Amino acid sequence: MITTTDESLLAAANEARQNAYADYSGFLVGAALLTTDGTIVTGCNVENASYGLSICAERTAVVRAIAMGYTQFNSIAVVASPLATPCGACRQFVVEFGEEIDVICADANDLSRFRKWKIADLIPESINRSNLP
Ligand code: THU
Repeated sequence: MITTTDESLLAAANEARQNAYADYSGFLVGAALLTTDGTIVTGCNVENASYGLSICAERTAVVRAIAMGYTQFNSIAVVASPLATPCGACRQFVVEFGEEIDVICADANDLSRFRKWKIADLIPESINRSNLP
């Protein structure tokens, strides 16, 4: 199996960033989700004239992955410029699939200087399946 490094996942996120549909904010974001079987599923932010219907790159990647049949993830890389960490909605969306998922963020102009967290550290005490009846 090919091992995906943090650097190569960031490179995939950066490539996906090229497809960002973000004329309203001008803030281009790419994401790349690594499944436990080594598949990379990418996403970009998709904005809308309504503004409120815009969706972040991270949730685009997760929704694509689920639609493709994947539910187990190791990590998600996010590339923007400057570096952006996932919004609250995206943190909740990612932690749904495991508190151990790594979140790796970098500035598009310098992918080598990335930051990395566990998703549970970005959204402590999150609601999850075990809190529900
Ligand atoms: N955005 C993302 O796609 N991911 C982030 O982590 C931060 C924000 C998008 C949402 C919106 O399209 C634009 O960036 C400005 O917030």
